[in-house]
Amino acid sequence: MDKVVVGAAIVDGGGRLLAAQRADPPELAGGWEFPGGKVDPGEDDRTALIRECQEELGVMVEAGEQVGGDWPLADGYVLRVWLAEIVEGEPEAKEHLDLRWLARHELYDVPWLPADLPIVRAVQGQLDGG
Ligand code: CDP
Repeated sequence: MDKVVVGAAIVDGGGRLLAAQRADPPELAGGWEFPGGKVDPGEDDRTALIRECQEELGVMVEAGEQVGGDWPLADGYVLRVWLAEIVEGEPEAKEHLDLRWLARHELYDVPWLPADLPIVRAVQGQLDGG
């Protein structure tokens, strides 16, 4: 079975990207990531993405284009990321230490987790180039 983690590159109307600071485990705590999490057995990727954004941020999102394909994670997991927008609610850090909306010139102002950093570059390219 695929070991899939899904992540949301949530962009607001002003083109800012939502980054979330991990609270755990200790070796990842403090690092910044795309909100998301593991796909449950039998669950569709996009359904998992919507569920995780509800659980972690308390918002309803709509997923758009995928950002790249399978991005490697540790332990044989892959990360799949979609551009997304909030259609209901204001994001709250329910499971994260903090949240930040990053403007284009602030995209690298937070220490992204190593796995997520190349995806930030891909998001930037996708927003620039379409
Ligand atoms: O909450 P859940 O157990 O579903 O998943 P998670 O703990 O958020 O994600 C599982 C693993 O994927 C984490 O331990 C992170 O190493 C990694 N991950 C990541 O590198 N970047 C993300 N945007 C999300 C998860």
